[in-house]
Amino acid sequence: MREHLSAEVAKHIWWHSIDLGEGIVTPGTKTPAIHRQESASFFDRVQIAGHSVLDIGAWNGFYSFEAKRRGARRVLATDKFAWTDKHLRGRETFELARRALGLEVEALEIDPADISPGTVGEFDIVLFLGVFYHRYDAIETLARAAQVAKHLLIVETHLDLHKIDKPAMAFYPPGRKPHNDETNWWGPNVPCMRDLLAGHGFADIEISTTFHRGIFHAWRSTELRLQELPIEACWKPHKLSVSSRLIREICRPFRRR
Ligand SMILES: C[S@@+](CC[C@H](N)C(=O)[O-])C[C@H]1O[C@@H](n2cnc3c(N)ncnc32)[C@H](O)[C@@H]1O
Repeated sequence: MREHLSAEVAKHIWWHSIDLGEGIVTPGTKTPAIHRQESASFFDRVQIAGHSVLDIGAWNGFYSFEAKRRGARRVLATDKFAWTDKHLRGRETFELARRALGLEVEALEIDPADISPGTVGEFDIVLFLGVFYHRYDAIETLARAAQVAKHLLIVETHLDLHKIDKPAMAFYPPGRKPHNDETNWWGPNVPCMRDLLAGHGFADIEISTTFHRGIFHAWRSTELRLQELPIEACWKPHKLSVSSRLIREICRPFRRR
């Protein structure tokens, strides 16, 4: 039994490190330590138990399974790109992990561009983790994720343009992609993500960042918030360089006209 599971796991490509029991952990690019850190940042401050969760871009399913383990009433894992890619065969990996874990997590093959209240319904909590910058239609798919989030949308994304204090987003044309990944299209800065989310009517947006990644808790209502993001973990605007401040001062009189 264990040998069979181990052999099945070895046949696949894993983005997530999922502990399947019997000493078998899928060999994901994301290590167990990364998952621990991300799970804490995404979920520790959120009342998951008893609520519904939609995972957009679930791939192997780690965060769908984690939400279920934390007591979510209903979890719907969705994906299309990684699930239908002939090389990645992500749906098979999700099914393998779901079977081994025996968790009641629903699955639906759907592209983020097709997410809507009509296709999936509405969910208390929506996860949009590691998807935004992969989409040429990033702004449109973010809008779709926001539309189905009743209380909270959690967005995790690659970031860029840290030194620009206005909302801005880097575009990566073919041949000039971060990490040579042809599916990386955009690098927003924090003000850009914050203002895009604010445009979808979220009342409070909490932001924590590492240098290249950002986590945005966009609260429509704070009913499911167990704890606010500690002040020391909050993103702080980049200090403007002397030259940016100078340009700003020089431009000021013209702006007033
Ligand atoms: C980096 S993985 C993130 C997986 C998981 N949500 C996480 O945070 O660990 C990117 C996910 O985005 C999905 N995706 C959706 N549209 C995509 C596209 N056009 N190109 C690449 N990935 C896309 C992939 O199928 C995959 O599940």
